[in-house]
This record gives sequence, structure tokens and C-alpha cells, in this order.
Amino acid sequence: MAAAAALALATPFAIKSADAATTPAATSVTAAQALAAVQANMTTANKVNSKPHINTMTRAQNVNVYQVKPGVYAYTSGMAIDTDGSDSDPDPDHQGETTWQDSNGKALGAHHVPFYVLGDDCWDRTSPCPHFFYQDHNMTGRQFALMFYNGKVIGSIFGDTQTANNQTTSDNDSRELGEASVKAAQLLGIPSSGTTGGVDNGVTVVMFSGSSWVVSGTNATLNDNAQARVQQALDSLGTGASTPPTTPPGSTVFEAETGTLSAGGTFDSNHLGFTGTGFANPANAAGAYVDIPVTAAAAGTKTLTFRYSDGTTVARPATISVNGTSRGTLNFPITADWDTWSTASISVPLTAGANTIRVTGTTAVGAANIDSVTIS
Ligand code: GCU
Repeated sequence: MAAAAALALATPFAIKSADAATTPAATSVTAAQALAAVQANMTTANKVNSKPHINTMTRAQNVNVYQVKPGVYAYTSGMAIDTDGSDSDPDPDHQGETTWQDSNGKALGAHHVPFYVLGDDCWDRTSPCPHFFYQDHNMTGRQFALMFYNGKVIGSIFGDTQTANNQTTSDNDSRELGEASVKAAQLLGIPSSGTTGGVDNGVTVVMFSGSSWVVSGTNATLNDNAQARVQQALDSLGTGASTPPTTPPGSTVFEAETGTLSAGGTFDSNHLGFTGTGFANPANAAGAYVDIPVTAAAAGTKTLTFRYSDGTTVARPATISVNGTSRGTLNFPITADWDTWSTASISVPLTAGANTIRVTGTTAVGAANIDSVTIS
């Protein structure tokens, strides 16, 4: 009974939701806006660590932590699944303890509490620590964080630590970032099995330091208490300078979702940061396309700038045609994930009035997700 109530309250904020009760008020910062604000500040100038962290899932040494505003720290990594604590789990690595406890002193339950994992110590044993070490940043157990993934955001707490470097029995390493509890994975729609679950990339964790962001509660209430802080945290991050993207004077934006798709394509809204009401997701096939209707005030050579995302590991080249005539191929290189948008431009002749721009994928994976085309 308590579990059912907790689940209802813990429904993650959907970016596009038909349910008015879960849609933030118009004056509130949305998940997409807050993530854009965070990403705009994940810059070299704001990097906290001088040596890279390790993605727990892929073991790539390419994870950095950024101070995105005073006292707020963000990283993007994969998510490995932590099953530890007071809930039983078939995972052979399951341990009964978590580093931090609930307000009754009980080990956290990985199936009830959305928690994230940080390094247990400064791996290098030097000060200042060349890595992000929570003790240096006014953080302790049950410190609140937002976790963003695939169009969703949840609240979570700092619950467990990655094995210290004085334990040599496994490849665990306190430089790792990218692990969270079964419950966090479930709320974000990530496979949550401790042995086969997790995701390699695309999870952004935004940690809020200071005693006012320490969440109290028991294993039965911590999830609700964490979700109750989500909107306040989003609002504190603001909307970010990069959303919506600035349009240079004299240019016009045409949204891909006003167009039409070849068979198998869909207009989606399940990734963060799009403009308009969604984006085009052409079918995963060579020759699959999206047609975008545009208008030009006068005939002439214009620059088409496509806003797109490709969260895979390979570029998605596509030919660009105007009114049925091919005008060249753009490469559409990969972006950090499906929530990150980049641009690709090409010069083409347009006729006065209505024109149709077709983006056709040339490889078996099809074209990238296309948000819009800007004419300048
Ligand atoms: C994922 C992603 C889609 C994308 C697709 C693809 O399913 O969520 O937005 O279009 O991959 O590979 O094209």
C-alpha cells in the first residue's frame, strides 16, 4: 500500500505530458530548460577535476565534473546499477550495507530509494584532490541531486560510495562516476537489473551541495521527499541562455515537425532541448527522409542550418534536396547524446515562396533527429 502511494508520487516529470497535474506551471523552469542551463555551463572554464573520472559502465576515462553555478556540480556519464542496502536482491555483488543511512540509521534500500554513488576517497591521496571528491565540496550523505535521462528528470540522494582504492580485489575505483540505485534506474526508464541493467551514456547528474539540500526521511519516505525537491531545484538552475537557441536577425526558423516523413518515421518529443513541439525522427533506413516546408521572401542563394541530434557513435550523413533537386550531402556528426543539439549548414538556391527541403539519410541507420531548419 505504501509502495503504491510512493510510486504514484515518484512519477518522473515528463517533458511533454498530457497530464496537467504533472506539468509544471507556466512560470516554472522545465526539465529541458534547466538541463540546457546546466549544459551551457559544462565548460572547460568551470571544470572542477584536473584528471578525468572513469565512466563506471564503459570504463572510459572521459567523465568530468563541472561547477555549473556556485555550489552545484554536474557530470554526464553512464549508469551502472547499485543493488546494495536493506532491500534483498539476487545480484551476487549485493551487499547489505550502504555508506549512508536513512534518518532511522538503516541501510538505504536500493529498490526504494533513488540514490547515486560517488568515489569513497581521493584516489590520488593528494590535496587538493585532482578529482572531484565530495568532501571537498560541502557534500555529505543524502545530498540531493537531479538526474536527467532521455527526456525525464528525477530527484535522488547521495547514498553509497565506490570502493576505496585500498581494496584491491576488483576493478572498483574511487575515480568512477556513473552508478545509481535500482530505484533511480526504474524511475528514469533504464534497465535496473544489478547484473544486466544500466546504460552506457547520457545520464546527467546535477548535485546540490550544502546542508539545506540534505534530504531527510526513511526508506519508505525518501523517494517522495527527493521528488518533492525537484521543481525547486529546476527553478534554481534557471532557463539557460541557450534555450531557445538565438536566431540571427534576418533568418527564419522552420520546425521539422510541420513536415512529413517517409514510412517508418515519427515526430517525437522524448528528448530534451528541442524547439517548437518536437522533432523529426526519420526511419532507420537508407533513403528514409523528412520533408520540411519552408518559405522564402525572394529567390536566391540561402544558407540552410539544420538543428539536429545524433546520440549514437557514428555520423548520419544525409543528402539535402530542394524541390526535388539534390544540392549536396551533409555529414551530421555525432552529438554527446540525444538531448544535445548541434547544427549543420549548406548553401542552396531557393525559389520565391514555398519550397520543400528534403533530408534523406544515406546509410542504413537513416538520418539524424532533425529539430528545425533555419534560413538565412
Ligand atoms: C533512439 C532515439 C531516437 C533516435 C533513434 C535512432 O531510439 O531515442 O530519438 O531517432 O535512436 O537511432 O534513430
